[in-house]
Order: sequence, then C-alpha cells, then structure tokens
Amino acid sequence: MTVTIVGAQLGDEGKGGMADRWSESASVVCRYQGGDNAGHTVVHDGEEYKLSLVPSGAIRGKVNVLGNGCVVNPDTLFEELDALRERGIDPDVRVARRAHVILPYHRVLDGIEEDVKSESDFDVATTGRGIGPTYEDKAGRRGIRVGDLLDAEVLRERLEYVVPQKRALAEEVFGVETGEAFDIDALYDQYAAFGERLASEDMTVDAGTFLADRIDDGEEILFEGAQGTILDIDHGNYPYVTSSNPTAGGAATGTGLGPGIVGDGEIVGILKAYLSRVGTGPLPTELGGVVGQTPDYEEDTERGDEGLAEDIREAGGEYGTVTGRPRRIGWLDMPMLRHATRANGFTGLVVNHIDTLAGLDTVQVGHSYALDGKELFTLPATTERWTDCEATLESFDGWADADWDTVADEGYDALPENARTYLEYISGELDTSIYAVGIGPGREQTVVREDPFA
Ligand code: IMO
Ligand code: MG
Repeated sequence: MTVTIVGAQLGDEGKGGMADRWSESASVVCRYQGGDNAGHTVVHDGEEYKLSLVPSGAIRGKVNVLGNGCVVNPDTLFEELDALRERGIDPDVRVARRAHVILPYHRVLDGIEEDVKSESDFDVATTGRGIGPTYEDKAGRRGIRVGDLLDAEVLRERLEYVVPQKRALAEEVFGVETGEAFDIDALYDQYAAFGERLASEDMTVDAGTFLADRIDDGEEILFEGAQGTILDIDHGNYPYVTSSNPTAGGAATGTGLGPGIVGDGEIVGILKAYLSRVGTGPLPTELGGVVGQTPDYEEDTERGDEGLAEDIREAGGEYGTVTGRPRRIGWLDMPMLRHATRANGFTGLVVNHIDTLAGLDTVQVGHSYALDGKELFTLPATTERWTDCEATLESFDGWADADWDTVADEGYDALPENARTYLEYISGELDTSIYAVGIGPGREQTVVREDPFA
C-alpha cells in the first residue's frame, strides 16, 4: 500500500519528521514534486539532518526516488549525497529519467523576475532555486530532462536550442548581462559530467515502472510531498505559489502510478497548530507582520500582536530552513484547512507544534471568514477576494508547558486537557481523525495514535 504525506498549509508543517518516522514501515520513499526549494529537517540519533532535495527516507537507509514530477538540480543532489556520505550514511537515491533538470540559468532568471516583480510589489519571495523557470520550460516543451543528461548528443542539441532563447530573454527583455550560466559549452561540460555520474552510480530509473514493480512485490511506498496545499499551483493562492502540485493528485502524475493506487492508500495531511508562511500573499489570521513579506507592512506599523508573533516564532524556531528568513506567523485558519481537506481527500491528520503554543493564556483560531456580510467556511478562489476576508476568531483556553517526554511515553490522554479540546475541535471541523500529535522536534516527540501503514 501507499501513504501520501501532504502539507495542509503553507509548507514547513513538519512533513519531513513524519515521513522519516513512518518510512520505518516502508521500503521506498518517493518525492513527487518540487525540488531543492523544500527544507526538511530530520533528527536521528540526536543528529540533525537538513535535506532540501534528497527524500527524508535517506537517513533510514530506504530506497529513495525523485519522481518525474520533481525538478532536479544535480549540483544540490550530489552535494547532499556527498555530505550524507561524509556523515557515515550511504543513501540509495534513484532519479526519474522523466524529471526535469534545473540549470544555472533557471536560478538566474528566478532572481531577475523576482526583482522585476518587486517593483510592483508582485514578488512571490521565492526560494531563488530556479523552480518556477524550470517548470515553465517543462510546460513550454523546451526543458532538459534527467534522461537527456545521459545522452551527450541529445544534451548538446537541447542546449543549443534553448540557451540562446534564455540569453535573449535575460539580455533583451530584462536588460541583464549574462555570464557562464548562459554559456552553451560551459553548461554542456558540467551537465554531461553530471550525466556520467548519474550513469556510473546507476541512479536513473523509469519511476513509474520501478515503483509499480515494488507494489507488485507487496512493498510499502511512502510519498513525501514538499511545500503545501496553499502553495499548490492549482489549489493554492495563485500567484503566491510554487510551480508544482503538492496536493495528493501530484503523487499520481508525479510518479507514474495511477490515482487509484494513491487513493487506495492513506493520504495524511500534516499541519501545524498555528500558521507560518515564508513569502508574500494574504494571511487573514496573521499576527503582526514581517517587513518585506507581509503585504503593505512597515516596520513602524503599530500592531498589538507583534509580541505574540515573536514569541511563537522563537518558540517554534520559525526561520526558513533554506533561506533563514523569519517566517510570518498566524493563528490556525480553518477555512484553509477545509479547503485542503477537500482538495486532498485526507484520511488522517497530524497536528504538529502543540508544545510551541504551550504557555499562552488563550489560543485563537480563524473559524470562518466574513466577506461582504456573509460567513465563509472555505477559501475564495482569487487572492484579491481572499485579501478582503476578515477572520472570525474563536478562542480556546491555553495549556501550560508539560513534561513532553512523559506525554510522549504515556500517549494521547497525557496531553493537557485544553490541548485535547483544541485538537478535537480541529478533527471535528474537518471530519478527519488525528493520527499523530507533534510535541517536539525529535523522532520520539510525537504522540502516535494510528500508524497509517499498520
Ligand atoms: P517545505 O517542503 C515553505 C514558498 C516560497 C515562495 C513560494 C514560491 O520545506 O515545506 P519557489 O522557490 O518554490 O518558486 O517559491 O513558495 N516555498 C516554501 N515555503 N516551505 C517550503 O517547502 C517552500 N517551498 C517554497 O517561500 O513563497
Ligand atoms: Mg521547509
């Protein structure tokens, strides 16, 4: 069977930790979208591992697959593999030959477009990894795929077609000088060498066939989503999104397995007990703001909730794994979660960071939105309408800090009573059971009620 792990919010929900934990029962961990824009932290034997491209199963010695829906920067891939090997881990990573390759010009163009957009406050605050430009080339049928790196002649041909277009775009449309990143010979040498290494380490696969064979053999597969539902290019708040489908449907199109296989398994939504967001875009339950990310927010703006946001940011370590940027903070947003539950068909939920909110007198939740005098229970389809929504908050009594290790040992009933009331509200509103509750960053600091592979 399969278990698909999906971010229910805006990324950074703690997907990596759960993927690592549940991968214990799986033999394969597979990413189906995104690239090195992800930032997954896995704590193993007291050691912290930060991964952006390699699936979280790598730490446990599983077979790891980057599916065709991923965009792969070979530089990052080999850097992460080498770093893990230096730490004594020998990861088995396979890359789909149908996956698209991120080239240096994609990263440059990502930066250029962000700069241009920022003049009209339209920037997405991307991770700068070239994700959007690579998916653009995929859709534009001018991308270079992993399989192309294995055939020097094809690689050369593709570069000769695409690079002059990219150079013209940078120089003539954006007026930016180009360098090595747009040089066909330099790119050819570097990427042909990546192809040789992929071939010599036997790393490339036809992902669909590879995974289907495993399923036929009765093996368990864990699909590890990156980013989150509200960053999904179709179901997120466009245009403040990433360029792929983190939602559960992506696990089929991004791997080459049928949707029935994904749907026959479990689809677990991972959420935080509050909200965090890196980048711009509306956030109706936001507390305070972050200059440069919160729309129209300036340093000297007086907002009473600033201190609360800072406390949560510090307690939760809410700084970007990839970029180090402070994350925007808000209360849990139920319309967002109702939307995510429908778009993904969650069969279970994991609520992380319950410990982070400990010590607050009151915990609030955006229960619904007020828009044009009406009560709304899910998200409007446009970002502009979403910006007009005002969150209607509901208050819950807070819970005190607890001895979380004891809670981890004793299980769900040992959670503070008020925390359980909060969790039961979430589960009831979404009509979905809570499979696990995160009470700290370590693998053991999770209260598991149900193992989706069991
Ligand atoms: P994980 O997997 C949080 C955000 C960026 C930006 C938008 C588009 O760690 O949850 P991109 O570089 O993808 O074109 O940026 O998406 N973003 C993330 N936010 N967690 C992530 O990944 C993210 N990956 C991208 O901040 O707003
Ligand atoms: Mg992250």
